[in-house]
Amino acid sequence: MSEATKEYAGAIDRGLEGVVACSTSISAIAGTTLLYRGYTIEDLAENAGFEEVIHLLWLGHLPTRAELGAFRETLGASVALPPEAFPWLLGLPKQVHPMDFLHAVVAGLSLHDPDANQLSPERTLRKAVRLTARIGTIVAAYHRVRSGQWPQQPEPDQTLAWNFLYSLLGSEPSPQKVRDFDVCLVLHADHELNASAFSARVTSSTLSGLYSSVMAAIGTLKGSLHGGANEAVLRMLDEIGSPERVDPYLDRSLGEGRRIMGFGHRVYKEGDPRARILKQMSERLTREAGVPELYTMSALLEERMAERKGMIPNVDFYSASVYRALGIPVDLFTPVFAMSRVAGWCAHVMEQYQDNRIYRPRGRYVGPTRLKVLPIDQR
Ligand code: COA
Repeated sequence: MSEATKEYAGAIDRGLEGVVACSTSISAIAGTTLLYRGYTIEDLAENAGFEEVIHLLWLGHLPTRAELGAFRETLGASVALPPEAFPWLLGLPKQVHPMDFLHAVVAGLSLHDPDANQLSPERTLRKAVRLTARIGTIVAAYHRVRSGQWPQQPEPDQTLAWNFLYSLLGSEPSPQKVRDFDVCLVLHADHELNASAFSARVTSSTLSGLYSSVMAAIGTLKGSLHGGANEAVLRMLDEIGSPERVDPYLDRSLGEGRRIMGFGHRVYKEGDPRARILKQMSERLTREAGVPELYTMSALLEERMAERKGMIPNVDFYSASVYRALGIPVDLFTPVFAMSRVAGWCAHVMEQYQDNRIYRPRGRYVGPTRLKVLPIDQR
């Protein structure tokens, strides 16, 4: 072992598996369930709306009726994009991945926000409100502009779920559709120290501001091993096409050593509670939307992956067919994930600032040592 390598001799946890990097009271994977500040995800999905969950994640308790009214008003006041954003937003390229567009627009909005680099709790909370209220608006505006339509102005007195569907589809969504989408937002809002929340925490630990932290998180969520998996799942289902083609597809893909998107999880080994809820929604919603084969193929894939690989579906697996049934375009699936997860990112940044220490792990050096720089003509 060389001198340089000796210094890094401790065990390496590849992918930081099993490393506990911070204390948090925001959310926890507790056996077969997920807790947001002590409440199970099953309970919250059934009995709380997305705005109540955001309040819970940021302020630590479920709001009273009066608190919820005030909180919704605050979010509603920020849901529209500032008018000064339109000229540059409309000038951005539209034939790009919507996650890249979202990233660019969040960066652009930070340039117009006088609080962008302020770290006080009050200003961080104000920015969290603006960002969380606006991500759905940005995503819907992107879709309308690329489809040759003018962005639909959101309604400040409606919920974020209602506004997203309204701004995306251009007409008032049914109460049931809003409720179903709202449940999706609740289910995706936070998930302990997942990769994008960790990114947000790493960035904020340098005392960088909320916008930079959320931009880091958006970039992290985009990858197909994280939030990008929901889009990949639907593309896979489209490629499979019918239930009888599930087995040949798995034979070929597993034979080639490919990953089946929407399966596997670093922490859950007994099943992801969010996937269980989404599975039930998928069965109902795909039937109602006239695309029941999406659920049939998904359920068969789940069965076969359990038999062949002992693997379980994660949150991205059934959310894919649910979003398709709700009429959301496939490349917006991951941005829709961001629209919800931004609530968790903001909660993590706020918690990080409260007891900050910069994240600075080590990397074990395995390269050569003591090389000598030769004059350029002798190399
Ligand atoms: N399909 C097929 N095999 C899979 C797999 C999948 N979706 N996920 C993991 N595996 C296999 C790996 O090939 C590896 O096998 P090996 O030990 O024979 O090499 C083993 O399972 C362990 O995988 P690993 O990548 O070490 O697990 P991880 O904890 O680092 O990764 C995920 C977790 C979620 C990133 C991983 O399961 C994955 O890539 N899933 C697909 C993408 C996805 O759905 N992401 C959304 C996560 S919510």
